[in-house]
Amino acid sequence: MIEDLEKVLFTEREIRNRIREVAKEISRDYRGRDLMLVAVLKGSIFFLTHLAQALKIHTRIDFLGIESFSPGKALPGVVRISKDLDLAIQGMDVLVVEDIVDTGMTLRYLLNVLRERQPSSIGVCAFVDKSNRRLVEIPLKYRCFEIPDRFVVGFGLDYNQRYRNLPCLGILKKEIYQK
Ligand code: IMP
Repeated sequence: MIEDLEKVLFTEREIRNRIREVAKEISRDYRGRDLMLVAVLKGSIFFLTHLAQALKIHTRIDFLGIESFSPGKALPGVVRISKDLDLAIQGMDVLVVEDIVDTGMTLRYLLNVLRERQPSSIGVCAFVDKSNRRLVEIPLKYRCFEIPDRFVVGFGLDYNQRYRNLPCLGILKKEIYQK
């Protein structure tokens, strides 16, 4: 798998260290509160597990499934909830755990859906931010890494459902997805 990368952007160790730092911030900000982590499937599962284990506060965890994206064929923001939350979020402090924020269209849709359920607060924690691709403004309360406008895989992020289990984050060689 690693040979399909043009470049490793962040190693496993760098990722773990950074997630620990972000978890510290979250634990401090939500101290004494019960936090509901809403992880967006499937890309955020590796991020979620590392983040949740590093938190020092009580949390509940739930999952939202959405239709996936692949370069060249998806329209940004055209998403559908394929698996809804099992838990109610009304009156809860919700933190949406997202793998990557690109145009921001997916998150805008998800945040609108979740806000209608009247949580007491809602924030976003992103693993990776491609901020220079943003089409709509999305307030990110926390983010681990800002990256350039390149297609990345690993640590949960996929291309055609592959590479999620790569323990690092890297830029996928163009010839892999331009075949
Ligand atoms: P947005 O709606 O444009 O912000 O797109 C977000 C979704 O696009 C993410 O949840 C990913 O599924 C996908 N995506 C965007 N860029 C990448 C990438 O570089 N690698 C893998 N998936 C990506």
